[in-house]
Amino acid sequence: MNSQTNNNQRRILVTSALPYANGSIHIGHMLEHIQTDIWSRFQKLRGHQCIAVCADDTHGTPIMLRAQKEGMSPEAFIAATQEEHVKDFEDFLVSYDNYHSTHSKENKELCELIYTRLRDAGHIARRTISQLYDPEKEMFLPDRFVKGECPKCGAEDQYGDNCDNCSATYSPTELKNPKSAVSGATPVEKESEHYFFKLTDFESMLKTWTRQGHVQEQIANKLDEWFDAGLQEWDISRDAPYFGFEIPNAPNKYFYVWVDAPMGYMASFKNLCDKTGGLNFDDFWSQDSDAEIHHFIGKDIVYFHTLFWPAMLEGSGFKKPTKVHSHGFLTVNGTKMSKSKGTFVKARTYLNHLDPEYLRYYFMAKLTGRVDDFDLNLEDFVARINSDLVGKYINIGSRVAKFITKNFDSKICGGVADHPLVKEYQEAADTIAKYYEDKEYGRAIKEIMQLAAKANQYVDAEEPWVKIKDESTQKDVHLVSSVALNLFRILTIYLKPAIPSIAAKVEGFLNVAPLQWQDAFKVLENHAINKFKPMVQRVDPKNLEAMIDESKEEAEAAAQPQLAEPLKDEITFADFEKIDLRIAKIVKAESVKEADKLLKLQLDLGGITKQVFAGIKSAYSPEDLEGKLTVVVANLAPRKMRFGLSEGMVLAAGPGGKDLWILNPDEGAEPGMRVK
Ligand code: 2FM
Ligand code: ZN
Repeated sequence: MNSQTNNNQRRILVTSALPYANGSIHIGHMLEHIQTDIWSRFQKLRGHQCIAVCADDTHGTPIMLRAQKEGMSPEAFIAATQEEHVKDFEDFLVSYDNYHSTHSKENKELCELIYTRLRDAGHIARRTISQLYDPEKEMFLPDRFVKGECPKCGAEDQYGDNCDNCSATYSPTELKNPKSAVSGATPVEKESEHYFFKLTDFESMLKTWTRQGHVQEQIANKLDEWFDAGLQEWDISRDAPYFGFEIPNAPNKYFYVWVDAPMGYMASFKNLCDKTGGLNFDDFWSQDSDAEIHHFIGKDIVYFHTLFWPAMLEGSGFKKPTKVHSHGFLTVNGTKMSKSKGTFVKARTYLNHLDPEYLRYYFMAKLTGRVDDFDLNLEDFVARINSDLVGKYINIGSRVAKFITKNFDSKICGGVADHPLVKEYQEAADTIAKYYEDKEYGRAIKEIMQLAAKANQYVDAEEPWVKIKDESTQKDVHLVSSVALNLFRILTIYLKPAIPSIAAKVEGFLNVAPLQWQDAFKVLENHAINKFKPMVQRVDPKNLEAMIDESKEEAEAAAQPQLAEPLKDEITFADFEKIDLRIAKIVKAESVKEADKLLKLQLDLGGITKQVFAGIKSAYSPEDLEGKLTVVVANLAPRKMRFGLSEGMVLAAGPGGKDLWILNPDEGAEPGMRVK
């Protein structure tokens, strides 16, 4: 990877915001990851050394509680989520050089290193604060885990940080009638010592840095508002129980998730360096490095990336970002993504119905370098794919390919290089490259589609389908088709960052090695090509409808009542296999007088007799059971109960009372048979 072969070659590290490990990737995430991927593919296409990394953001209270709810360890839970995320990105052709986790050894080391450097330089303060505490769950409650009445307008069921009704912001201790969203208990105020990062130490550096082109102008203006409001010290610690990294020399105190999250960018890169020869961590992250670091993020997390993050890097002696690229939110048909309307679409749901390159192209066609929101208009989506991507671009190749293969022995002719259209296409390269660099992808597409229109007009005017019929003009068709295929090839280079898989198919068709940006200045002459195969289908609006319907169904299913009780910790398959389930015949059943729920059963397991106390009295009378077959856990260690020894367990399920059912195996079953 260390390919400092030409002096203009840049070394660029690119990141997208790390997705939280407690939810699926949706098309809102995809806007950012596709924007990033197009940019890094473009840089690679230009011959720069560009490394794109990402990771899952795994720490914090919501993830800890979610894992508990699923009956999993947090480690197992985040591993399962990461697998899903990685697959989603891969299937959207988002190509990270490394996808790691913030719950990693590299991240722990970096987090400790950065923290201790900040601490030793005097940038960490400690003081005791009072917070809401759940006495039942024995944990401090993050703002979002407290609900109550708004202290300003009295609206019910509001979160502990701000009111949906009147938009007031407040601290959770101000809520009226607060309740813990975790247990329902009334929280109490409790004191604890917290650690603070002294952001104010970096105020003057930040004021300069944010006006040096590292952020977009819209962001710099927002930052000025924050500077005017005054910077505050940042609370970077959380008390146990917390899923995260413990703070060195501070037992039971953990780093707040947002401390180690951006360090995850470095950790993912470090992990890649350790796996890959020739890539050196310090070459990118040391303060005097001339490598570039580019973060792509959403506008909601600007504060973390343009204030806390550069300040922490500065204070710990690392390189600050070259650029933080912020984008707006994704809306669908002009409004916020909505679960009930089916416009909150998961990446996987999209992929179940549509080609990933449609969305990649559509995002490319409309993205700008600004921070404005992006609207996915479904009608426009269909139109842009069908009339531009397929109707204009692919059309150039498909309409002339057949002449070359059928009439000219599959060979492109010479004499192409001087064609004025070829020249015009080549001259557009710098303009298009500048648009890519500035993330003005929409303007790049506009330019590219204008070029595509010219190629089509050229073919229209030349009428090769007429000329091919006349021997005297057949030769012209060879040149027209060869020029058109060369134009098609140049457009493919310009579009390749957005549609890499289509581009690969074009390369296969044109019988050329993977195209690089500089190849736009070459031409294909006297060159044999392969048969043209369709490279992308038109969008069928029915598939969009099916995607929306499936998203609605998912939202409805998710809104169904959840399990009343959390699942227990997961067991391995080997654990499960230890359970010996057997068919048992209920030989005798009697009621245990002193117990409301228990029946005493004598079970025949095919030669072995076992006595079991089963809590099924509310649903079965003893006489109904005698002679029946059922299923029993046969190897449960005997337990001494008040009424005698219980030597197994009869399986029963149901909400309770009369609604409780034991299993009734089919007639063919025999006592003692193993149940698998
Ligand atoms: O807002 C989010 O989704 C965060 N998980 C982004 C973290 S970005 C980086 F700092 F890790
Ligand atoms: Zn209110």
